[in-house]
Amino acid sequence: MERMGRALPSILAVAAAASMLAGAAPARAQGGGEAEMPRLVRRDGRFALMVDGRPFLVLGAQANNSSNYPAMLPMVWPAIERLHANTLEIPVAWEQVEPREGRFDFSWVDTVVAQAREHRVRLVLLWFGTWKNTGPAYTPEWVKLDNRRFPRMIDAEGATHYALSPHARSTLDADRRAFVAFMRHLRQIDGTRHTVIMVQPENETGTYGLVRDHSPAAEALFRGPVPDALLRRLGKAPGSWAQVFGRDADEFFHAWSIASYVNEVAQAGKAVYPLPMYANASVMDPLHPQDPKTYSSGGPTRTVLDVWKAAAPAIDLLAPDIYARDHREYLAHLDHYTRPDNALFVPETGNDRVHARFFFEVIGRGAIGFAPFGFDLTGYSNAPLGAPVLDDSTFEAFAMNYRLFAPMAREWAAIALEHRTWGAAEPTDVHEQTLPLGRWKATVSYGRPQFGFPPAPGNSTPRGGVAIAQLGPDEFLVTGYHARVAFDLAQAAGRHAIVARVEEGEYRDGAWRFRRVWNGDQTDYGLNFTALPQVLRVRMATY
Ligand code: DGJ
Repeated sequence: MERMGRALPSILAVAAAASMLAGAAPARAQGGGEAEMPRLVRRDGRFALMVDGRPFLVLGAQANNSSNYPAMLPMVWPAIERLHANTLEIPVAWEQVEPREGRFDFSWVDTVVAQAREHRVRLVLLWFGTWKNTGPAYTPEWVKLDNRRFPRMIDAEGATHYALSPHARSTLDADRRAFVAFMRHLRQIDGTRHTVIMVQPENETGTYGLVRDHSPAAEALFRGPVPDALLRRLGKAPGSWAQVFGRDADEFFHAWSIASYVNEVAQAGKAVYPLPMYANASVMDPLHPQDPKTYSSGGPTRTVLDVWKAAAPAIDLLAPDIYARDHREYLAHLDHYTRPDNALFVPETGNDRVHARFFFEVIGRGAIGFAPFGFDLTGYSNAPLGAPVLDDSTFEAFAMNYRLFAPMAREWAAIALEHRTWGAAEPTDVHEQTLPLGRWKATVSYGRPQFGFPPAPGNSTPRGGVAIAQLGPDEFLVTGYHARVAFDLAQAAGRHAIVARVEEGEYRDGAWRFRRVWNGDQTDYGLNFTALPQVLRVRMATY
């Protein structure tokens, strides 16, 4: 059978290139000879999460907050299976592993790791410690009820705030000890298998209603100089926080304090078992300025990403939790966190049908993964953030994306490390978009019938999505749902564009399997994606 264009670089070649990029011999798991440690690699501003030495795309789902008990797992796995997810994100709570100080019980970790293996699913474990949605609810009672030893923040008037102070060494030491014990245990049970591929130390750090701590320790630091590492990163001249940052001083100081704390926890954990680690953000308004009292001040929000980068080198990436339903807002969040120094990862997003199409936009930007929140059968709904009920059509909206990508997740991740990729999710008000692809452009339209050129009315509900990857100068991998994609020259310059060949096929066991060539009605009006899982390799030419 004729093959289209040049062969893709083999996954092995990509993995080897990525190792060279990291400038080190591939990290081996403890014990030697086993699968490589998971790690994040960067190449020319593109990223891959390497799992077992090869790029991996997280087709994830996060369980509900209180599903972190063995009795709940029978209600978690069916949801993961139904979604065709390859990764489960689930909490490990400080209160459950260290209910009494110094007495650790990791039976939950043992159970979830063992069952994940049975279900052939990877894990991202979420350490719910000092901060869970900014509060200390998941700390053990010996922490959250002992305000003397583990002090809460103080406001400017001297009143006690709900959140723990990032300036209490006692709290940091206790959290760090527990986290290190957890990571050490993980290394013991999973150091050669790597069922667990990433860890999230803390969850949505920051504080609501108070921009920073005013405890005596915080005040002393606030009056002192801004640390050099931050000055260097931002190219600022030395001075106090107020002198350097003016009206942003309180928030920047708080971000530095929390990020430094999280960094110490992460660094100590990595010292015993160096899994990739990320910090998730309860995001602020992506389009307008916002009073920091009204969002999670000090967490890795868009205005302080550089502060976090400077303070927390042990954190591999900063990740937005995106519950926005509005297309412009959603994309603006992605814009803020897609940076050459930050791998894009959406560790939480809404699990309502409207959120499913954003998968294409996210992975089209080269993200290492995507995970809707609250996918289990425990009966909880976080509507209006997510779906009011997890009915069949809600499951299917996400499952169809993962069914499409599961067979080629490794290949997509490998391509995204080497080549440019693009994504589109159907907007609400605009029914046609143009993606600039270098020499080429793709016009993506929604709601058209498959035949002819009537105006694009949009789908009855916005559900279209497209992902495109560059395979060669004139060759693209194209897939999507409920959308038409038409290629053309970005600038005609006296030439005419022509479709040289469109192959439909699939990746199976790492190789492209040809199914048929699309031509005639199937290409005359553009490439029409419906609800069928179809993957195309498109080669364009000119005459
Ligand atoms: C974001 C948090 O990170 C999650 O743990 C959860 O509380 C959701 N918000 C809301 O359901």
